[in-house]
Amino acid sequence: MSKALNVPAVALGTWAWGDSGETGDGYFGSRLTETGLREVVEKAQANGFTLWDTAVAYGMGRSESVLARALSGFDRGEYQLSTKFTPQIAGDGDDPVADMLEQSLDRMRTDYVDLFWIHNPADVARWTPPLIPLLKSGTIKHVGVSNHSMEEIALADRILGEAGFRVEAVQNHFSLLYRPCERTGILDHCRDHDVRFFAYMVLEQGALTGTYSPAHPLPEGSSRAAAYNGILPRLRTLTDRMAAIGNAHGASAADIATAWALAKGTTPIIGITKASYIDGLLRARDLDLTAEEIADLETLADATDVDTRGWWEQEMR
Ligand SMILES: NC(=O)c1ccc[n+]([C@@H]2O[C@H](COP(=O)([O-])OP(=O)(O)OC[C@H]3O[C@@H](n4cnc5c(N)ncnc54)[C@H](OP(=O)(O)O)[C@@H]3O)[C@@H](O)[C@H]2O)c1
Repeated sequence: MSKALNVPAVALGTWAWGDSGETGDGYFGSRLTETGLREVVEKAQANGFTLWDTAVAYGMGRSESVLARALSGFDRGEYQLSTKFTPQIAGDGDDPVADMLEQSLDRMRTDYVDLFWIHNPADVARWTPPLIPLLKSGTIKHVGVSNHSMEEIALADRILGEAGFRVEAVQNHFSLLYRPCERTGILDHCRDHDVRFFAYMVLEQGALTGTYSPAHPLPEGSSRAAAYNGILPRLRTLTDRMAAIGNAHGASAADIATAWALAKGTTPIIGITKASYIDGLLRARDLDLTAEEIADLETLADATDVDTRGWWEQEMR
């Protein structure tokens, strides 16, 4: 069995890196350049943010390729790669899991993945066993499951357990606006069983940063604009309060969203697009929200009455 999973306080997400880079094009519609992303990598690595989350599904391999180019020059031991097997786009060969991993390794110019995920549950009994030989060979060092319910997490863990391995991490949507993992006990389960909970979309793809408003919406034509622009007016009271709390701590509204996720005991995966955002992660990492601030934020978040469940997510019961 390989060494215990050891990760930084905050992981970095690269879904937006799968976009083509043209403004308005793709899921995020941000203008990202390879030079800018190299700056992101250098600043992140220099500050200890060395775990990079990607997936084949992010631009159908583009995010993995762009990430590998941005990381070139760093020793493989200086960073950790987290990528995923997505059952919904599995091939029809004898071992679709090993095949998809092989292609990820090629794109990322490496021979192992530190943290490998089943991206979305499809048929847990079918897709979990193929991970075992990959763990045994050391091609994947640790396994996590994403978007799985409590029952699906338990089943995957049982299957791996029979071979002496375990589900070491869970990756689900968790933000001030979206907290089913708290209600369903997944967060408690992870805490009680030493399973690392990675919270994704902590910033609700930018909608929870205070940067965007009806007067300055998310990039026109992007998928995130379609998901969030309509609810921006309802987020205003919350993001104003986040900005005010941030102000009191010398931080921004976005930093407060991240600090909240850290206060909940999670490892946030923050979608990183600009080198300057690394400063925010450093602030969030060192920031302690009071119990009153957390309660206040959660009350205002509940009052927005929005549902930000992604189209790929099942309803957690
Ligand atoms: N397993 C899954 O099914 C799943 C699903 C979703 C996400 N994820 C993972 O989780 C990661 C995070 O989710 P996400 O990227 O969708 O959304 P996110 O982290 O909620 O939001 C990312 C966006 O917030 C803005 N931002 C980031 N840092 C900021 C800062 N300090 N201040 C102001 N704005 C900031 C950027 O937008 P601008 O460029 O517009 O400023 C960025 O694109 C993904 O990249 C991916 O790795 C996994």
